[in-house]
Amino acid sequence: MVKRVLQIVADEYDKLSDLSIADQKLIAAARESAENAYAPYSKFFVGAAVLLVNGEIIKGNNQENADFTDGLCAERVALFYAHAVYPDVAVEALAVTAKNLNGLIPGPAQPCGSCRQVLIETESRFNQPIRIILDGAEKIMVLNGADNLLPFAFKPDQLG
Ligand code: THU
Repeated sequence: MVKRVLQIVADEYDKLSDLSIADQKLIAAARESAENAYAPYSKFFVGAAVLLVNGEIIKGNNQENADFTDGLCAERVALFYAHAVYPDVAVEALAVTAKNLNGLIPGPAQPCGSCRQVLIETESRFNQPIRIILDGAEKIMVLNGADNLLPFAFKPDQLG
């Protein structure tokens, strides 16, 4: 028997101004995008912003449906749209934020399991780790690579 002990690394900030200008800009884009979320059912307004290696920033937000299971998260809207428009351009970073009726959540905004899986796929697709910035009013978390969000992930190489 071998005991596997994984190290998960996350940098936590309590002040937005402590982040780099580039990260602040991506968070601003995510916050802006959350304003356009279609979330009449949950009233949880999520915004995501994807920074591509070509410098382009692609925004997305959650899109809900009266048939609750048909909605899609902000992160996947942004990532899939980025891949649809720039299929050959790697993703450098992704910022995600969330607001409820009281405003920005304390944070950090945590991506759901399916979005974590899609982040893993994006990293495999472009063979490059993604800087993941999880926004919040009180805490912002930065992770270098989706392995820090989803350990022991199912990756394309498992398919053989
Ligand atoms: N949501 C996201 O957009 N991203 C996540 O990672 C977590 C959840 C959305 C889905 C739904 O519209 C609302 O938040 C409440 O779950």
